[in-house]
Amino acid sequence: MPERLKIAINTGGGDAPGLNAVIEAVVMSAQNRNWDVYGIRQGYQGLLNTEEIVRLTPEKVRGISSLGGTMLGTTNKGNPFKMAVENSSGEIEYRDISDRVVKNFNRLGFDCLVAVGGDGSLEIAYNFFKKGIPVIGVPKTIDNDLGGTVITFGFDTAVSIATEALDRLHSTAKSHDRVMVVEVMGRHAGWIALNSGISGGASVILIPEIPFDIDKVCAHIMDNELKGQRYAIVVVAEGASPAGGSIVHRGAGEAGRQDVLLGGIAASVAEMIRDKTGKDTRFLVLGHLQRGGSPTTFDRLLSLRFGAAAVRMIEQKQFGKMVALDPPNIKAVPLEDVIGSIKRVSLSSDTVQTARDLGISFGD
Ligand code: F6P
Repeated sequence: MPERLKIAINTGGGDAPGLNAVIEAVVMSAQNRNWDVYGIRQGYQGLLNTEEIVRLTPEKVRGISSLGGTMLGTTNKGNPFKMAVENSSGEIEYRDISDRVVKNFNRLGFDCLVAVGGDGSLEIAYNFFKKGIPVIGVPKTIDNDLGGTVITFGFDTAVSIATEALDRLHSTAKSHDRVMVVEVMGRHAGWIALNSGISGGASVILIPEIPFDIDKVCAHIMDNELKGQRYAIVVVAEGASPAGGSIVHRGAGEAGRQDVLLGGIAASVAEMIRDKTGKDTRFLVLGHLQRGGSPTTFDRLLSLRFGAAAVRMIEQKQFGKMVALDPPNIKAVPLEDVIGSIKRVSLSSDTVQTARDLGISFGD
């Protein structure tokens, strides 16, 4: 390995608070080893169109750890192994242009790629590792659905924002004796709904891991009413569905996107509750508010730790691996053990038990 390494870094998938902190930590840790870091803009775009590459100096990144979003831009489209292109008849075709990325990476003399992303982006990174690119993964997602690490950065911020929203809804729900149904993100895992729902005093939490029975949800709300609680907060994860029913999608999806867009379950849950209980019911979708703004202190610190650990892993030549939190330590886990499956809420976990002990219903 040459003495002065040339490191590339990119951010892929949906943005998450903490991405800039990872970038800052990678650049500062590399600088301390006299290495150079280059930012690849918009996922892999910068390795297809090399004008999208920026040299990252300490002056450019110092202090960005407190900022939301990512200074490099990101995308959940543009997988070089399955790039959507319009053919001459105007139809979308998928092509593998990954060789171009590998060629540019080698031509530019990079020694390593730090890929910061969720399961989709890390799968792409792993595929590049198999094509010879030395890759280090850094786990990001507000959904916390990535295996191998106890937690991903971005999750704590999303839960904090959702909890604050729930706190605010209590007073208005109570004033009107209403049921407020709040939809949170999380894809096919219920981590955000579970953690914010417990912290924010929800009466009902609906998560993808526990298909719900709307009659049980309504019975719980009416039971509470008999006990004197005349309003209710229902938190529903976007990927939750009724037993025997299906997940609600938003439209047909976008070309080149790996996952399907979820969303819309809160509206149907609110309608069913109103029809079955006769209670005044409203719904809201927290949406991208959960990803916006500054990372919490927890996420900021975790991201800085992940970034610094990624640079240590480069030094140790631990390529094809991802940094992971295994409290109190950061460890390296093989990317192949992480991709392809999602980490879901365990029904026997202490957190689920806590919710049940507190009298929160999962609609089961
Ligand atoms: O994976 C992060 C996430 O925010 C999910 O919770 C959500 O389903 C999805 O991304 C939304 O994607 P987009 O930003 O493309 O609307």
